[in-house]
Amino acid sequence: MAIAIVIPGRDVRPLQKRLEKLLPGEEILVYPNDIQRPKEVEVAIVWNHSADLWERLPHLKLVCSFGAGVDHLIFDKGLPQDVTVTRIVDPKLTVGMRKYVCMAVLNFHKNLFHYYDLQKEHKWGRLKEAEVEIRPGVLGLGVLGADIAHHLHLLGFEVYGYSRRLKQIEGVHCMSEKNGQWEEFLSAINTLICVLPLTPDTYGILNEQLFNKLPDGSFLINVGRGHQLIEADLIRAIKGGKIKGAFLDVFSTEPLPYDHVFWDMPEVIITPHIASITDPDNAARQIAENYLKFKKGEEVDNVVDMSLGY
Ligand code: NDP
Ligand code: OXD
Repeated sequence: MAIAIVIPGRDVRPLQKRLEKLLPGEEILVYPNDIQRPKEVEVAIVWNHSADLWERLPHLKLVCSFGAGVDHLIFDKGLPQDVTVTRIVDPKLTVGMRKYVCMAVLNFHKNLFHYYDLQKEHKWGRLKEAEVEIRPGVLGLGVLGADIAHHLHLLGFEVYGYSRRLKQIEGVHCMSEKNGQWEEFLSAINTLICVLPLTPDTYGILNEQLFNKLPDGSFLINVGRGHQLIEADLIRAIKGGKIKGAFLDVFSTEPLPYDHVFWDMPEVIITPHIASITDPDNAARQIAENYLKFKKGEEVDNVVDMSLGY
């Protein structure tokens, strides 16, 4: 049995070394160059793979996403039905995401967009209102969203959260699709934080119809996936005053094309998919533990429910 690292375009030798240390005696191969006997490869660590992977490694049984998201696998029609897919669930990733979203919310709350502009003109211009009222709504209350919602509550915000099934999170008004609370959720909030996985149901969910349900002058933070946002609808919503400011970390095309209109919109802050980054040590440890469990025929951790797509 062997493990293949399938992460094109990145230097994966450090990951290979980490895994070799954690799994002495096991074959850790970098795809495609190291693969001599494809039939022996039953486990793969995958990010940004090409469509022919499944033909080239036809005996895969365990596919480990090298990130929290699995849309790169879920949307691949060629993914064999009998493979088990796992993802990374890492406390460091959760803390990183918490910090990013709290930072973005606090930028809106403390009028930082306004003061950045004034600074460019060397102007000392205090606004009458020291703080903007923010009512954050966290869309997606999974590992990352639940933590964000809880910590925004600790910062003193009145926080709302929405998921498919109803959750209970201390200090957070939780609502759900199951209880038919979509409209209620959107009318309660003025800052939408999207931390959803990309699935057929969430594709394009951040659209004009949704924006129109928010109060005028709302804010948007998207850290889920770029394809959840209809970019043209956001541009229109900003121009029409429906959305006042946005932090966007993910885009339908990454890197964001250099001539995209977002670059020059003062209402939009762009970050290059860095809201939170997989910690290579923790990821390697989790993958190694799962590999050993898989080898012993035990249940592996952080398995993706393929029927839900996350
Ligand atoms: P989880 O799988 O733990 O949570 C997903 C949440 O979304 C669940 O609460 C789920 O509801 C909810 N959900 C799914 N579909 C819908 C829907 N149609 N309507 C309402 N709620 C829905 O995921 P994580 O929290 O670990 O990660 C979320 C996403 O964050 C990842 O998939 C990835 O795309 C993105 N991400 C982005 C990063 C970045 O740097 N920008 C870094 C890491 C992740 P329920 O609880 O009812 O199942
Ligand atoms: C992830 C990501 O899903 O980096 O881990 O977006």
